Amino acid sequence: MCGIIGYIGKEHPKEILLEGLKNLEYRGYDSSGMAFKKGKEIQIVKCVGKIAFLEEKLQNEKLIDCNIGIAHTRWATHGEPSEKNAHPHQVGKITLVHNGIIENAAPLKKELEKEGVKFQSSTDTEVMAALINKYYKKDMIGAINKAIKEVKGSYALAILNEDEDKIYAVRCQSPLIIGVEKNGYYVTSDIGAILSHTNQYVLLGENEVVELTKDGYSITKNNKPITRKVETSTLSTEDSSLHGYEHYMLKEIMEEPILVDNFIKKYINNLDALPDLKKYHDIHIVGCGSAYYAGMIGKYLFEEDGLRVDIDVASEYRYRNIIYNDKTLVILISQSGETADTIAAMRKAIEHKVDTLAIVNVDGSTIARDCTYKVLIEAGREIAVATTKAFIQQVLVLSLLSYKINKDDTYLEDLIHLPQQLKVLLDKSGYYKKLADAIYKQEDVFFIGRKVDYAISMEGSLKLKEVSYIHSDSYQAGELKHGTISLVNEGTIVFGIITDDEIKDKTISNLEEVISRGAVPIYVGIDDYGYENQILVPRVNKKLQPILVVPTLQMIAYYVAYKRGCDIDKPRNLAKSVTVE
Ligand code: AGP
Repeated sequence: MCGIIGYIGKEHPKEILLEGLKNLEYRGYDSSGMAFKKGKEIQIVKCVGKIAFLEEKLQNEKLIDCNIGIAHTRWATHGEPSEKNAHPHQVGKITLVHNGIIENAAPLKKELEKEGVKFQSSTDTEVMAALINKYYKKDMIGAINKAIKEVKGSYALAILNEDEDKIYAVRCQSPLIIGVEKNGYYVTSDIGAILSHTNQYVLLGENEVVELTKDGYSITKNNKPITRKVETSTLSTEDSSLHGYEHYMLKEIMEEPILVDNFIKKYINNLDALPDLKKYHDIHIVGCGSAYYAGMIGKYLFEEDGLRVDIDVASEYRYRNIIYNDKTLVILISQSGETADTIAAMRKAIEHKVDTLAIVNVDGSTIARDCTYKVLIEAGREIAVATTKAFIQQVLVLSLLSYKINKDDTYLEDLIHLPQQLKVLLDKSGYYKKLADAIYKQEDVFFIGRKVDYAISMEGSLKLKEVSYIHSDSYQAGELKHGTISLVNEGTIVFGIITDDEIKDKTISNLEEVISRGAVPIYVGIDDYGYENQILVPRVNKKLQPILVVPTLQMIAYYVAYKRGCDIDKPRNLAKSVTVE
């Protein structure tokens, strides 16, 4: 997703903005740019490709001596990745950067062209700049308010006008916060972009307009003053160092044992701090991608506990005709807390006046802020686009919620040993590398499982395909004979995820079915069946089993991607936080 950072203060913004953009790289991008302002002059430098190219370009430009600047990493939504389409965009006196999608950009553009505006790019962002410029005479806040009334969609904007030494900012759906410190003020999509300067931030509500000067800031909504408290982020810059690992993905997988241990220590004698799901009759679990697969694990656990559970991906849930009642709880799972579809699903639940529970990583995020209840998964900053440690923490939260509903006796004993068992499993990198050798040249890799094992196989398949670009799919093991088994050929690799004692024989039979048609099995389970390729994990309480299985699949995905020379932390086309529909 696009990233925004702006600075106004005592220092020249270049290094601050460059460092900020590098801290936003994990969000995924294809181009970047900066604008500097001094007096009436606004200097724009932008380019396609990695930030290193922008850095080189900046070295070769004579930059104006200033203390105001805005910068942007672009993840293309309207218009191909190009210098022309990169931000910042300038129309007349207005220069701005944008994260989001202006859904009615086309009709607005037509109207503005009729009024004589000549557009340089094919972006929706330039339309926004033209609209504000159209209304701007002397009253910048009035111009912004007029413009945002005309647009539909999502936006986070950092805006300069050539008449004032100020930065203006406004957001709707897309994240944007104000950073506060003694040397100046910041506007950014993500606190992580400015953590080396400050951990003090101010959250912005929808359509609240911020006016930033080097001496302070003011917030208004519909021209009425708004006060917002200054919050302190618990994230540390530590989270964004590699600590000697070659990739953030591996570093973040290896953090899992200590994160699980810390979380267990925090809640094992304090389960009352977690919401009690028993009081609800209908549980809806909603998320996207891996968050959805974590929710799928939760669904199976809560059903075993006797609850009625509906689960869906947020992009479907938000458009369904859902029947709510006063005993419905909607659980929104999201690492970033800013995923557009998941936010929309949350708003749908809030509109129907049902309780909502956020299981999120980023405190202060929209979902964390607007849900009835929240449980922070405390995974620390997750930088690799492919989620690993956050996924495990999400599953751990769901597991503890399940234990709170139905306290089976082996759970606590197994919980205490989990971090050490996980560490032992993760220390087997030599074995994962060996399996990766067998996989990395494959064109297709399939995963099968039943119930929780099916949910695990969905996540294992997603991890593999999103970082290694190998086509992979996951199937309910019982579904193979209904069509998908036709995909199995001589040498096709099929992972069998088999950890559920009650149904393991069924899935073993399904694995044998594909073996008899030439497949090469990789068995992941708790019993030793003597397969040549097998990953054995300790048998633990069912509510905890995924926490030992999924990390082994994350490791395999990592080493396969490594063998294939992929851009592991920033896979092509992907963004860490999908803040647009
Ligand atoms: C997972 O590896 C992906 N990066 C993606 O599926 C992600 O889980 C999904 O976009 C949801 O993001 P969120 O948890 O921040 O809402």
